[in-house]
Amino acid sequence: MTPILGILLATSFVASLVALGILVWAVANKLIFVGKAEASTIFLEGEIGHPDDSASFGGKNEAQTHHFDVLRAGIDRAGKGPVMVLVTAGILWLLIGSIFGVIASLKLHWPDWLAHIAPITFGRARTLHLNIVAYGWMSVTGIGVALWLLPRIFHTPLRRPNMAYLGALLWTLGVVGGTLAIASGWSDGIEWLEFPWQIDLLLAAGGFFLAWPAIETAARRKSRHIYVSGWYFLAGMVWFPFLFLVANIPGLHMGAQQATVNWWFAHNVLGLWLTPMGVGAAYYIIPKIIGKPVYSYNVSLLGFWSLALFYSQVGIHHLMGGPIPTWAVTLSVVHSIMMFVPVIAVAINQHVTVAKNMWAFKQSMALRFVWIGALMYTLSSFQGSIEALRSVNSVTHFTHYTVGHAHLGAYGFVSLVLFGTLYYMMPHILGRRWPYPALVKAHFWLVVVGFSIYFLSLTIAGVLQGTALMDPSSTFAEITKMVVPYLEGRSIGGTLMTLGHFVFAAHFALLLLQKAPRDNAIDTFALAKVS
Ligand code: HEM
Repeated sequence: MTPILGILLATSFVASLVALGILVWAVANKLIFVGKAEASTIFLEGEIGHPDDSASFGGKNEAQTHHFDVLRAGIDRAGKGPVMVLVTAGILWLLIGSIFGVIASLKLHWPDWLAHIAPITFGRARTLHLNIVAYGWMSVTGIGVALWLLPRIFHTPLRRPNMAYLGALLWTLGVVGGTLAIASGWSDGIEWLEFPWQIDLLLAAGGFFLAWPAIETAARRKSRHIYVSGWYFLAGMVWFPFLFLVANIPGLHMGAQQATVNWWFAHNVLGLWLTPMGVGAAYYIIPKIIGKPVYSYNVSLLGFWSLALFYSQVGIHHLMGGPIPTWAVTLSVVHSIMMFVPVIAVAINQHVTVAKNMWAFKQSMALRFVWIGALMYTLSSFQGSIEALRSVNSVTHFTHYTVGHAHLGAYGFVSLVLFGTLYYMMPHILGRRWPYPALVKAHFWLVVVGFSIYFLSLTIAGVLQGTALMDPSSTFAEITKMVVPYLEGRSIGGTLMTLGHFVFAAHFALLLLQKAPRDNAIDTFALAKVS
């Protein structure tokens, strides 16, 4: 680390603060003003006031919902193929990733179980789990969601769907190649960047061909205003390639510098890639299901820009106590605390909107998943900011607590929002209802109960472990034994979550296999042809 780098980082923080101040001033003085009209751009004429609860199985609003689907069919149709390919691939990765998660978890309390099979030893199973859920399940499904929602937001059919097919193919080959490489012991050996860089080239090319149609659709959009979800999706699609390419250049960063770049990348995967996907989807699904614009659209601008300004340097708090300059860590702690601003902005919009319309929460299963996911975003972000404080971090660092926190964000927030979004999307895309409402409820309760057990077990284990590690009279062996019951608890919770994923995937397969729409369902695309 050189003084020049330090000056650059400090200047970027001061510039971010000044930019935030100017934004707040401009919004307060109505120089930048987005109001109800802009918040309503996701609705068609006459649609406000009509709840859209297509996942709630023939509720009284279904006829109205499908009336608007028919009007939107021309927009939805172009992207239907690539979106379905991405979503199907994403769900397959969810299953495979979860199986590796369970295997890794079991190995922490049954170390001798299948110890002779190299591809599923803990080091490889954990790595496979992380990379598959990050680049398979969450990224692939998130891109599918973005490619479906962006055309709706812009009132413009998806441009270049064939390019999106190519992108989906290359990205999938990249994840398959990376998975096989890690399983066979070939890895770059850097956390979150284990796929060998030669295989990462496939992901980079795939990402390019997936982002292009989204960006071209935005450029040719028919609506002047870019609804807030559009900002999040497009920004994620621009930020992620930079992060991925810079962090992956072989031989560029070495030693402590490499660790710094590693955590800069790894945390930004969550904050500048998966978070925009989750927050962007929730900003669309919540008001659409309720049938009213979000509570305070003006604040959404503040939320987006403060994420853009402050998130990028959060990750260095992972290196607290490591061999890097203290000021770099301190800067990252300050950035971590600044994250209260975007998180509170999102919370005001999303939670108040739902809290004022609890009837919709009771009625719509899709909203239940999405809103609980949005609540977990608030909780995991608050938890993250507090975890970055040195006094708290000295207990939680290097313990199971961090893994609990990671799952609160990646699972409680992103995955739950994705589940709810898929429950909402599929009836609109396929013109058919989910066939078995009981399976949606089973999925919901399995993952909610499973995740609660998972999170509580690791959180308690982490605090006990961290406190004991600071006590010089406890031995490492004693501490390891002490946390075993909690690790068993994690395996029970994780198995319930995985069962929930299988229920969801089976239901999705049944939905796809229904040859024709049921009598009482409505085939949107067919209706659109005759209307
Ligand atoms: C599909 C949803 C899931 C997502 C998005 C997810 C995400 C993650 C992430 C981000 C990490 C890295 C944590 C860190 O390094 O701090 C991780 C690690 C891990 N996950 Fe998951 N996970 C999911 C489901 C599961 C399930 C169902 C299990 C089953 C028990 C599981 C078990 C594990 C284990 C054992 C680790 C390694 C923890 C360690 O090193 O101690 N995960 N997961």
